Amino acid sequence: MLKEKIDQITALGLDAVAGAKSSQELNDVRVKYLGKSGEVTALLKSLKDVPNAEKPAMGKLINDVKVKIDSALAQREATIALAERKAIEEKERLDVTLSKDNLEQGALHPLTLVKNEMLNIFMGLGFSVADGPEVDYTRYNFELLNIPQDHPARDFGDSFYINPDILLRTQTSCVQARVMEVTKPPIRIVCPGKVYRPDDDATHSPMFQQLEGLVVDEHITLADLKGTLEEFAKKFFSPSTKVRFRPSYFPFTEPSVEVDLSCAMCGGKGCRLCKGTGWIELLGAGVVNPAVLDACGIDSKKYTGYAFGVGIERATMIKYSIPDMRLLFDNDIRYAKQFK
Ligand code: PHE
Repeated sequence: MLKEKIDQITALGLDAVAGAKSSQELNDVRVKYLGKSGEVTALLKSLKDVPNAEKPAMGKLINDVKVKIDSALAQREATIALAERKAIEEKERLDVTLSKDNLEQGALHPLTLVKNEMLNIFMGLGFSVADGPEVDYTRYNFELLNIPQDHPARDFGDSFYINPDILLRTQTSCVQARVMEVTKPPIRIVCPGKVYRPDDDATHSPMFQQLEGLVVDEHITLADLKGTLEEFAKKFFSPSTKVRFRPSYFPFTEPSVEVDLSCAMCGGKGCRLCKGTGWIELLGAGVVNPAVLDACGIDSKKYTGYAFGVGIERATMIKYSIPDMRLLFDNDIRYAKQFK
């Protein structure tokens, strides 16, 4: 009677093990047969009703069932674990033979390329790169740069104000003031960054980028500015580029200059691009106004300096003969890809 029951449970148990399809199912089978209240445990408990003479033989049979099911479980477990691992590997497999032609390849935006190239040139000339906030105090954007309260550049209509003391910077020149305030000369920095003004047409955008340069040390003159900008223009545009200074005005430089390049298209003879003049206006610059040095805590009797600010969009348009600035902001990847 018990013997038949043992045979039956053996058969059912082994079947169940063979039929389990996951480690979870296998675990259920283990609990059902070998668990505390499982079938095999129940068999062992029923031994107490067996006549004493038969107990050793029956005990051995039940133990054999336990061993058989146990080893079947172990085997099945190994098979399932392997299959489950394979399934995961298959799912997470990287197909290294996938054709790269299916992948869209991006390109650096021309403005990024130009900015990087400019930074490289100036770093090669011994400049380091400085940074400042895009939302800044009027103190840095104006006051310390010798642009007093009543100056027309401070009109509310000409800048994006957050409140009367804070605005989106209109020029990277504010970084000059920030650097001078905390740095003892010699100073030799460039600072690229976004600036904001409420203009919007083919050659102006409400957001554009400038690259500011500042050098402060003993005996710095306008000649150092010219040499540095000439070196930059030859590397950035072409070795035959000439640089010309014209008098100009900025509150924070004295004297101030407007810097022109010889026209790359006609070589200076005069053409449509340079409107017949042979020259193209590139940037504003000058000798740092002693009033600015003093306001920023630098002794203007001991130190002098020069500064310049070049529009990155403007330099890009000149370098690549781009007629409309809006092309640079359209986000058309086909356009960006041409500059690779
Ligand atoms: N900040 C000036 C501008 O935005 C450019 C400039 C920078 C001029 C440094 C002189 C010195 O037009």
